[in-house]
Amino acid sequence: MPSPRQLHLGAVMRPVSIHTGAWRYPGAYPDANFNFAHLKRFARKLEAGKFDAFFMADHLAVLNMPVEALKRSHTVTSFEPFTLLSALAGATERIGLVATASTTFDAPYHIARRFASLDHISGGRAGWNIVTTSNPDAALNFGLTEHKEHGERYDRAREFYDVVTGLWDSFADDAFTRDRESGLYFDPDKMHVLDHKGEHLSVRGPLNIARPVQGWPVIVQAGASEAGRQLAAETAEAVFAAHRTLAEGQAFYADLKGRMARFGRDPDHLKILPGVLVVVGDSVEEAREKRALLDSFVHYDSAIASLSIALGHDASGFDPDGPLPDIPDTNASKSGRERTIALARDENLTVRQLAQRLGGYGGLAFVGTPATIADAMEQWLVERGSDGFNVMFPYLPEGLDDFVDKVVPELQRRGLFRTDYAGTTLRDHLGLPRPANRFFPGS
Ligand SMILES: Cc1cc2nc3c(=O)[nH]c(=O)nc-3n(C[C@H](O)[C@H](O)[C@H](O)COP(=O)(O)O)c2cc1C
Repeated sequence: MPSPRQLHLGAVMRPVSIHTGAWRYPGAYPDANFNFAHLKRFARKLEAGKFDAFFMADHLAVLNMPVEALKRSHTVTSFEPFTLLSALAGATERIGLVATASTTFDAPYHIARRFASLDHISGGRAGWNIVTTSNPDAALNFGLTEHKEHGERYDRAREFYDVVTGLWDSFADDAFTRDRESGLYFDPDKMHVLDHKGEHLSVRGPLNIARPVQGWPVIVQAGASEAGRQLAAETAEAVFAAHRTLAEGQAFYADLKGRMARFGRDPDHLKILPGVLVVVGDSVEEAREKRALLDSFVHYDSAIASLSIALGHDASGFDPDGPLPDIPDTNASKSGRERTIALARDENLTVRQLAQRLGGYGGLAFVGTPATIADAMEQWLVERGSDGFNVMFPYLPEGLDDFVDKVVPELQRRGLFRTDYAGTTLRDHLGLPRPANRFFPGS
């Protein structure tokens, strides 16, 4: 019998892959972050696989890692997401298009316009990943000498959300009558001037764009701190989580959905989608070999920097081909150190292998056959660790093609994933209601 709940699948499109060694993998497209033909092919393939959304992350500075690591990674550079997603809107028909935009470094009027435009251009497929931007280097690119403090960033984000959604509601859905007879293009009684003056923002409005197709583009959030969870519980319709185990995922899932009642929200109107790196093989051994090969492409200089951070201890003097030595206690993250030591012991990894694992991609990974990957996804769904996943492909195009050609059919066979899109908008795909206009509720 098909499962009553089905998975939602987003694709995290660091175009070359999130894994820092991916550009060196045999057959990978090392220039995919600046090659539109490749990106178009990826988006179309994901759409053929009935994915809910293509998610384009964004950063307002190169990533803040030591130059020894920076110079070896493709993940630090990519296209500006609106330019890319607007172009992809014309190359696809159904798949959702989610972009990150920062409430710390952008202006709400700009953001409201860009997402409203993308939603119209794509026929209702836009989503906004609200971030407050954690990379302090971004401040230096915007005329500031220091980054705003975390709490203040989230306070501003909360107000920012009210302003942007208020701007999207500037016009009633039926405001544009375009009546040739009377010469009335729109009904002025159906236009609202926001006139917002708050603690962080001052915006008059109205927005100079008709209400988006979806009413509001889908609101996405990725923060995990107390302030991040609070913002998500109050506003988000999809959350990109980053938990490494089912138990952690379940705790986060219960916590976040539990917080929603306080805001009068239905827990089903927020989809929790952890990021997961998926490596597909014809056997589990083959998948593990692919992962090991991929990890081996992470240069030792950048790998060892990641290991030192994870351990809170300088690992540069360790024998790369020996086992991990005993690590003394430090003030750095205890849980991170313990997890790292446990990983080395459990999988009997050398210092080099451990460093390359963490330096490539240290988060949740499903490495196996289509059946074992589907088992894991099913378990997370059924045991309430998630409502689906944000899939990260280990190397492209092969990893993406493997997922769409091999894992998706297995999920469909089990009734865990759609065999076709039921609607046309991202809200339709995610099973989310279209928000009423707060100023024109009946329109
Ligand atoms: C799957 C995922 C995707 C993210 N994408 C972005 C992004 O595109 N841009 C960005 O600045 N931060 C991104 N982040 C970082 C978060 O917005 C947030 O800063 C981080 O998770 C720390 O959360 P906190 O500030 O609530 O502690 C992402 C995080 C996750 C887990």
